[in-house]
Formats: sequence, structure tokens, C-alpha cells
Amino acid sequence: MTGSICGTGSYIPRFTMDNNDIAKLVDTSDEWIRERTGIIRRHIIKEETTVSMASEAGKRALENAGMDAEEIDLILVATISSNVLLPCTACEVQKNLGAVNAVCLDLGGTACSGFVLAYNTAEAYLSWGIYKTALVIGSESLSAITNWGDRGTCILFGDGAGAAVLKAQEGVSYLPAVHSDGAKGDALTCRSRYEVNGITKKDSYISAEENEYFIQMDGQAVFKFAVKKVPEVIGEVLELNSLGKEDIDLYILHQANRRIVEAVAKRLEEPIEKFPMNLQEYGNTSSASIPILLDELNRAGRLKPGQRLLLAGFGAGLTWAASILRLPE
Ligand code: UT7
Repeated sequence: MTGSICGTGSYIPRFTMDNNDIAKLVDTSDEWIRERTGIIRRHIIKEETTVSMASEAGKRALENAGMDAEEIDLILVATISSNVLLPCTACEVQKNLGAVNAVCLDLGGTACSGFVLAYNTAEAYLSWGIYKTALVIGSESLSAITNWGDRGTCILFGDGAGAAVLKAQEGVSYLPAVHSDGAKGDALTCRSRYEVNGITKKDSYISAEENEYFIQMDGQAVFKFAVKKVPEVIGEVLELNSLGKEDIDLYILHQANRRIVEAVAKRLEEPIEKFPMNLQEYGNTSSASIPILLDELNRAGRLKPGQRLLLAGFGAGLTWAASILRLPE
């Protein structure tokens, strides 16, 4: 038994900022951003929220799967940028969709590995027969936690949501490869904005303008980590499942930087055509990047029955993860 993807959806905010718009905020240029990252523009929330984007992406995935919301047993949302702490985003999605029979939970803090970890979690529930259907979502409003005065980070991020519907079906359940290295966590941080403690820190409210309340990143350290660990974890997940590179039709990597994707392809000695990219249009949308890409490929007719996909995410924690899935015949 396995959890097969049988529908996808996404929601992208309409408002965009291209590299020239960013160059009005910080000392950078379209040329520098394109060359170093491959990013051309990113979409930014205006009236949308993490919850509203997650709900719309989920609704579109259900429509694509031809399912009603009541048929969903589990809703899992990966996000680091929920607009509310309580209730969790998954419960808000349940309410908005009318998925009255679903168990709902968020996977917070797993950032750019978030969708792969959420997919693994849902797949494990389905392959053990605990639930029959799951809606797995990655949704991010990174613009709300970005320091728009820091050129090392604000050029990178964008907002959006993607979703996939999984159904328990006969088939092989592949083992995932997942790693965490908390000792390297300082390379990518964002402190809580809710550090005011009514009992012990009454007078110590720290302004949200302070830089540490936004995403802070040692870009070079994260870059080096990604180009080393992503090929390693891809090799590991293939070996774990006794598969070779020739068994993989497409590598769906977290969309952080074109140079990272190209370096991974080169290290694996795989053609770059097997690594679809859309970061030029959306920037890095953290947990949303993989399901947004999946949905684009699906709607463009590039996902075919029986194809094997390899998903790989990497980011804050530090964490990195890879999973293999087979599309239903
Ligand atoms: O989602 C997972 C987490 N995130 C990532 O995967 C991001 C990983 N890191 C990266 O993508 C890259 O490290 C960045 C795109 C963030 C930076 O690219 P880089 O090639 O590593 O640049 P760098 O930090 O080595 O900086 C090179 C030069 C420096 O100038 P000098 O010292 O050589 O004169 C920087 O000051 O470029 C300068 N620089 C910029 N110039 C124009 C740094 N940021 C910018 C900028 N515009 N935005």
C-alpha cells in the first residue's frame, strides 16, 4: 500500500515585484540577481494570507483529483509563516473547505524541507492503512518575515501555496531519506515575534523592526551545505530503495537558486532537463516551492502515469530530505 498523488493545486498572489523593483529598495541589480540566483520576479501577498492561499491551493487540488472535501481524512500543512499561531493553518483550511472529516495538523519550522517531510508523514499514515486520503499543503507568506533592507535575503523570497491530494492505493511505498543537523541551525534563523512574556518580561517588548525578527541567513554557508548534502541524500534515497538514476523521470528540487539545482544535476551526472525549475518566476517560496512546481508540471501535461519522481528539500534546521514517489498508472 502507498499514498499516491492523484491531484495537485496551487495559488500564486497576483502582485509581483521584479528585480528592478527590488533594486529600488536595496543596493542590487537585475543582472546580479539573475546571474547569482536565476530569479527574475517573485509574487507577493497583498490581501492574501498563508491560510487563504493554502485553502485555495487545497480547493484546486481537490477539484483536480475529482474529490469532495468531506472525503479527506488528513490535512497536513507545512509552513513557517502562518498568519496566526492558533488555530493551526490546517484547521483553518479544514474550515474553509468544509473538510469536516479530516484530522488536521501543521508541520512548522521545517521550512524548505517542509513539503517533503509533510509528504513523508502523510504517505506513512496512508501506507499503514491509518487514513485513506490526505491533503498535503505548503503555504508561505515569506514577505512578512523578510527584512526588505537586507540584500542578502530579500532578493530571494516569494509568497505562494501548493497542494497535493494523496490516496491510499496498491503499490510500492518507498523509504524516505531525511536528516537534521541542529548544530548548524545558526546559518538560517528567524526569531519569534511573540517573545513578550506577560509575567517575566513585561517591559522588554522588542520591536519587530529589529533585524533578528526577520529571516537571517549566511547565504554562502547554506549554498555550500545544499550543493553537498542534496546530491548525497538523493544517492542515499536511491540506494535505500534499490533504484538507480535511470529509474527517476524527474527530480523536483526545492527552488532556492538555479546555481544550486545546476550543481546538483552536475554532481549526479544527470541531464539538467530532468530538473524542472520555476524559481525565475516565484523566487524561493520555502515549503510551497515543490508543490507549486508539481502543480505546474501536472497542468502542463508533463506528469505521466507511472513516472517516478524524486522530491528533495533542504533548508533551516538545518534539514534535508528526499523521497521517491510513483504516479498512479
Ligand atoms: O531555501 C533554502 C535556503 N536558502 C538558500 O538556499 C540560499 C543559498 N545561498 C544563495 O543562494 C547565495 O549564497 C546568495 C544568492 C544568497 C548569495 O550569492 P553568493 O554568490 O553566495 O554571493 P556572496 O554572498 O558570496 O557575495 C558575493 C558578492 C559580495 O561582494 P564582494 O564582497 O565580493 O565585493 C557581496 O557583498 O556580492 C555581493 N552581494 C550582492 N551584490 C549585489 C551580496 N548580495 C548582493 C546583492 N546584490 N543582492
